[in-house]
Amino acid sequence: MTRTAYAFAGKASVNEQLRALTDACDPFTRAGLDGIGIQADWQILDIGAGSGTVATWLADRIGADGMVTATDIDPSRIPAHPRITAVPHNVAADPLPDGYYDLIHSRLVLIHLPDREQILNKLLAALKPGGSLMLHEFDCTARRTVVGGDADDAALFDRVITGINRVLRTAGAQLDWGIAAHTAMTQAGFVDVATDASMHSCRGGDAWANLAAVNTMQLHEQLLDTGLTVADLERFRALMAAPDFVAMSYLMTRTLGRRPQ
Ligand SMILES: C[S@@+](CC[C@H](N)C(=O)[O-])C[C@H]1O[C@@H](n2cnc3c(N)ncnc32)[C@H](O)[C@@H]1O
Repeated sequence: MTRTAYAFAGKASVNEQLRALTDACDPFTRAGLDGIGIQADWQILDIGAGSGTVATWLADRIGADGMVTATDIDPSRIPAHPRITAVPHNVAADPLPDGYYDLIHSRLVLIHLPDREQILNKLLAALKPGGSLMLHEFDCTARRTVVGGDADDAALFDRVITGINRVLRTAGAQLDWGIAAHTAMTQAGFVDVATDASMHSCRGGDAWANLAAVNTMQLHEQLLDTGLTVADLERFRALMAAPDFVAMSYLMTRTLGRRPQ
């Protein structure tokens, strides 16, 4: 696997992480992409495609003259599809063709990569004039209030989510990228930049809770370095399976901008 700043590179339980992520995020992502008006002959790039659910959804919406190029530093989980070309590609280091794509999409990749501003310049150049970039990201600085659970549960949830954020920031993530992407895209030269967002309650046992539990397993050692204990992490994982526990999700954002004509 290519070297990257990505905090989850080389970690265990990637399939479980990506399953929870796609279950939690795909409905919001699809609604955003649906609004773009995808055309049958489009060339589309999905960066850091992971398990490929978004790339597959996009490929099902284009015709024989279109193609989805689905990239990842580890493209092994992208399923075969007649209109998907899966490519090993490190967006921070590897080139992209100039002026080639009608639409570039990426979800939860640039938030992790320290070179995100330079990557935006590369993505602008890779779009056809008038082509669109849509980023789906989290703003991890938005408070995830606990709305169902006692005070001890809420305190533990806060401590663990704060710990996860610290580990991600140390690895190179920009925690407020979900909102900051708007300014960065404008500064890179995108026009008609617009952001919208979604946050909703999530319950123990659902996809959002599973994602949090899997993340604590993947980052277990680093979370212990932040001062959390093994007992804290075990209690947190039990809480994430408890249907009476309810907290707000991450703030999910999408930012859309166009390369000028
Ligand atoms: C949080 S996952 C998101 C996966 C997928 N976009 C989704 O939302 O379901 C981040 C993905 O980005 C990939 N990735 C990390 N660093 C990358 C890089 N430098 N270039 C391309 N992909 C990268 C990872 O391998 C992983 O599949």
